[in-house]
Amino acid sequence: MTSDVEHAYSRRAAEYAEHLGSMSSVHPSDRQLVEAWADDVDGPLLDAGCGPGHWTAHLAGLGADARGVDQVPAFVEHARAAHPAVPFTVASVDALPDGAGTLGGVLAWYSLIHHEPAAVGRALAESARALRPGGRLLVGFFVGDELEQFDHAVVTAWRWPVGWLADELGAAGFEVVETHTRTGSPKGPRPHGAVLARSRG
Ligand SMILES: C[S@@+](CC[C@H](N)C(=O)[O-])C[C@H]1O[C@@H](n2cnc3c(N)ncnc32)[C@H](O)[C@@H]1O
Repeated sequence: MTSDVEHAYSRRAAEYAEHLGSMSSVHPSDRQLVEAWADDVDGPLLDAGCGPGHWTAHLAGLGADARGVDQVPAFVEHARAAHPAVPFTVASVDALPDGAGTLGGVLAWYSLIHHEPAAVGRALAESARALRPGGRLLVGFFVGDELEQFDHAVVTAWRWPVGWLADELGAAGFEVVETHTRTGSPKGPRPHGAVLARSRG
């Protein structure tokens, strides 16, 4: 069944890839954070909800054993064409194709922002299943004082308080290692959060 999120991104995949599908559109401090995180990952790294695949390719270029999955076939086609040396697969973050305990790291960079809050735990638990004990998860998201939905350019998304995400991570089998937030501006980017967590195995 095609979800509203999949449908919305399928329609706008080309536009998204053109405007946001390269490392030049990434905030310098996010680039630094994700690179440092990936450097600490031991084993295969999955970019879960990779979109156009720019993060996947960037991390592979830095030496990571990186691959990407996204539920939107148009993104996977774009990623394969743009980065032929990097593996990309159509799959859901809620049902990863990876075996239990096989991954060293999962990057969920703004890929869970459209999940209904009650469904976020399932995606986190799926990452926990696929990660080896001690494996690392990095989640990028819109941060807010309250759990609330808003009109995102593609399809409805959610803001999460950091404490809410920490609780969800704890329930899914992770321990939070680091938290980063950045304030937004009225006409610029929205407030941003990133949480690094480790699988308790
Ligand atoms: C805001 S984009 C982020 C894309 C990329 N991670 C980036 O940083 O540019 C959200 C992405 O998550 C993907 N996504 C959302 N729900 C998903 C799901 N259940 N399974 C796989 N991908 C999903 C969308 O297709 C889209 O590519």
